[in-house]
Amino acid sequence: MVSSVTAPFHGGRLQQAANEFGIAAEQWLDLSTGVNPEGWPVPHLPAEVWQRLPENDDALEQAAARFYGRPMLAVPGSQWAIQTLPMLFAPTRVWIPRYGYAEHAFHWRLNGHQLETYDELPDQHQLAPDDIVIAVNPNNPTGYRYQPDQLLGLAMKLQQLSGHLLVDEAFMDPSPRYSLLSGTVPDNLIVLRSLGKFFGLAGIRLGFICCDPALQQKLQQRLGPWAISHPARYVGALALQDTVWQQHAQQQIKYSSEKLTNLLSQHFAEDQLSTTALFVTLTLEESQQARQLYQHCGQHAVLVRIFPEWQKIRFGLADDFGLNRLAEVLEDF
Ligand SMILES: Cc1ncc(COP(=O)(O)O)c(C=O)c1O
Repeated sequence: MVSSVTAPFHGGRLQQAANEFGIAAEQWLDLSTGVNPEGWPVPHLPAEVWQRLPENDDALEQAAARFYGRPMLAVPGSQWAIQTLPMLFAPTRVWIPRYGYAEHAFHWRLNGHQLETYDELPDQHQLAPDDIVIAVNPNNPTGYRYQPDQLLGLAMKLQQLSGHLLVDEAFMDPSPRYSLLSGTVPDNLIVLRSLGKFFGLAGIRLGFICCDPALQQKLQQRLGPWAISHPARYVGALALQDTVWQQHAQQQIKYSSEKLTNLLSQHFAEDQLSTTALFVTLTLEESQQARQLYQHCGQHAVLVRIFPEWQKIRFGLADDFGLNRLAEVLEDF
């Protein structure tokens, strides 16, 4: 079946920007993703990691259980879970945030579910049996962050209705105390995590899901035996175990995020900016302004992520050199 629903587009498409603006890819400053630009430093990998098949009971599962505080199922990127979960539920009503990572809406719709858009989390009176609520926490691109109690309360209400709460915590690593994984996890709660953001390892395609054992088994069947490559498992385990790097990265990200926010607040009003650890999102009055800013940055080989339908531009973190470049570009906007 060919679907008429259009697939979302994403940041990080440097090659396309190079073609669009006629500037070679290596000259760009890519601020279009929320990926930590100073990711975990990948070492030389032993030959057997490339050559032998991956095995499930390796160091990865233990490392993940220690890092997240509970057993997790490894998946090839949290995106894989976002695509697969809608196939595992009978058609139902799914509450989707108005602003958020568009892949959720795309895949639930594609799989025949009925979508309900929300600005604020649905309350008890709005919920019906078997409802599924999707929350992105912290939200990409708005940066909005829910308190864990608020989401947990919603999960409890949904539990009474045989419903589920799916919380996408792809950007949660810099603020782990807000994670639902740090408390009691009801069995109707599904939590997604990613190695692609804080760890900066977007290319290895590794993420994790926490859910009840029955759902986990269905996901496992869909995964098959070698869905996560041996290099991804090996590198992922080392990164999750590296608490020294993690502490350093927390500081580094805090520093970069503050500097980026300071720079942007010299050019835009504070109420136009929402800051999270890994990106800052600017909301403009009209989408035309967002397009102009995107074009202006692009002409200077700075790639930002535009959300034209929401009048938003998202800026990822940069090192000092990158920030100076961005400062110059914004100066003559
Ligand atoms: C909110 C959110 N969730 C999940 C993903 C998927 O990330 P990954 O598949 O790399 O874990 C993304 C990617 O940009 C995202 O922004």
